[in-house]
Amino acid sequence: MADDATRAGQRNAPPAILDYVNRVHVPHDAGLARAFAGPEGIPAIQVGPSDGKLLGLLVRLVGATRVVEVGTLVGYSAIHMARALAPGGQLWSIEYEPRHAEVARANLAAAGVADRATVLVGAGRDVLPTLEAHAPFDVVFIDADKISYDHYGRWALDHLRPGGLVLGDNAYLFGELLDNTDRGRAMRGFHELVAARCDSVCAPTPEGLVIGIKR
Ligand SMILES: C[S@@+](CC[C@H](N)C(=O)[O-])C[C@H]1O[C@@H](n2cnc3c(N)ncnc32)[C@H](O)[C@@H]1O
Repeated sequence: MADDATRAGQRNAPPAILDYVNRVHVPHDAGLARAFAGPEGIPAIQVGPSDGKLLGLLVRLVGATRVVEVGTLVGYSAIHMARALAPGGQLWSIEYEPRHAEVARANLAAAGVADRATVLVGAGRDVLPTLEAHAPFDVVFIDADKISYDHYGRWALDHLRPGGLVLGDNAYLFGELLDNTDRGRAMRGFHELVAARCDSVCAPTPEGLVIGIKR
């Protein structure tokens, strides 16, 4: 009989199985490999290959032409999403660290998506309002400072089209989601806001990925 973790779909497969399914379903070409490896000195905190591919599939499923990402790092998830855009589409990705943004721009160019992916440097809270002229958006993916998830979530829901997707990575908050901390409250606020205004789920990816379809 299945135990609770198995029933919840949250038992991690052994690394060899994860390597196998990533090789089969998410083969890395040179562009993805370069962004996944990242340069020395920049933390390797990008989404995993399956999560990146899932983001791309979601972008494709909604036929997205306008996508916003908060938290570029060096562009790995941005490449997955930019490649999945419908013709004429555009991704705006916001990154606080200028060095990360510089590497991301080079990676996006190497991956052949520089024409449809723009990296904007600054804090998400400051840069998001500058994108409002491009609203309504089809997808907003949140993967930056956890303390701001409720703020980013509210912005996303105010600027997505009905049927658009709000996505939030690290939604288990590294096991600290239920803690009585500012980050815990902000992340719970994000979950509850998305649940109230979307048809939503927290998909049991390794880090937890909130997926909400705006009503
Ligand atoms: C987890 S990484 C993003 C990974 C990326 N989405 C990927 O999967 O390839 C988080 C990034 O958010 C950036 N960041 C942190 N605080 C931020 C803020 N207030 N506004 C924008 N970016 C921020 C960090 O510098 C870091 O590069």
